[in-house]
Amino acid sequence: MSVRICPSILSADFANFESELATISESDLIHVDIMDNHFVPNLTFGLDTVKRLQQLSTKPLDVHLMIENVDRWALDYAALGVYSITFHAEATGDAAALAQKIRATGCRAGLALKPGTAVAAYEEIFSSFDQILVMTVEPGFGGQSLIEDTLQKVSEVREILDRQQLSTWLQVDGGIDLGNIARVSQCGADTFVAGSAVFKHADRNQQIQLLRAAAESL
Ligand code: DX5
Ligand code: ZN
Repeated sequence: MSVRICPSILSADFANFESELATISESDLIHVDIMDNHFVPNLTFGLDTVKRLQQLSTKPLDVHLMIENVDRWALDYAALGVYSITFHAEATGDAAALAQKIRATGCRAGLALKPGTAVAAYEEIFSSFDQILVMTVEPGFGGQSLIEDTLQKVSEVREILDRQQLSTWLQVDGGIDLGNIARVSQCGADTFVAGSAVFKHADRNQQIQLLRAAAESL
C-alpha cells in the first residue's frame, strides 16, 4: 500500500512559509488548514495566502477547509490550482454536488468527517470523492492528542471503501505521531496529516521519513 505523509503548516512559522516549506521537502503533499473562526473556534488565513503558497511550493497543496458556507469559497481555492480541496460534511447542503463542481476544475475533492459525524449518513456519496478525511481530533487546533475512539471510524470507512471497490484515499488528521501512526495505518488509513509531530523537530525531513516508514511497516 502506498502511504502519503502530509505535513500541516498550521504548525509552521506563519511569517516564514518559504523557508519552512524548504524544511519539509520529503513531504508527499503540503496540508493547508483554512479556519474561519466560525466553523471552528480558530482563524488562520485565506485565499491570498494560499495563492502565494501555491507559487512557492514544489509539492501539491492539500487544502483542508474548516469554514462555513463552503459553497461560496471552494471554487475560488480550486481556481488557484491546488491539488485537493477537502471540506466538512456539515458545511454544505449538498456535498456530492460541490464535489462534482470541484472535480470539474481538475482539482481532487475530499469529504471531512468530524469525530461526531456519523459515517452512515455519507457512505452513499463516497464515490463522489477522491479522499475521505477522518478527523482524529476535534478540528480547530494543532498539537492535540489523537482520540482513540476515532480509530473505529477509520476502520469503518476502510471497510466501506473496500466494499464499494473505491480507490478513494483515506486520510487521517489530528494527533498523528510516531507512537500511533502504525496502528492508524493498520486501521486502513493511507494518507497521514502530521503537524506538530513534524514541525517540533529540528530535522523535519527525517521525521517525515520515520513517519512514512512506520506507516508502511504493516
Ligand atoms: C486541526 C487541523 C490539523 C492540524 C493537525 O484541526 O486540521 O491539520 O494541523 O495538527 P497535529 O498533527 O499537531 O494534531
Ligand atoms: Zn487539517
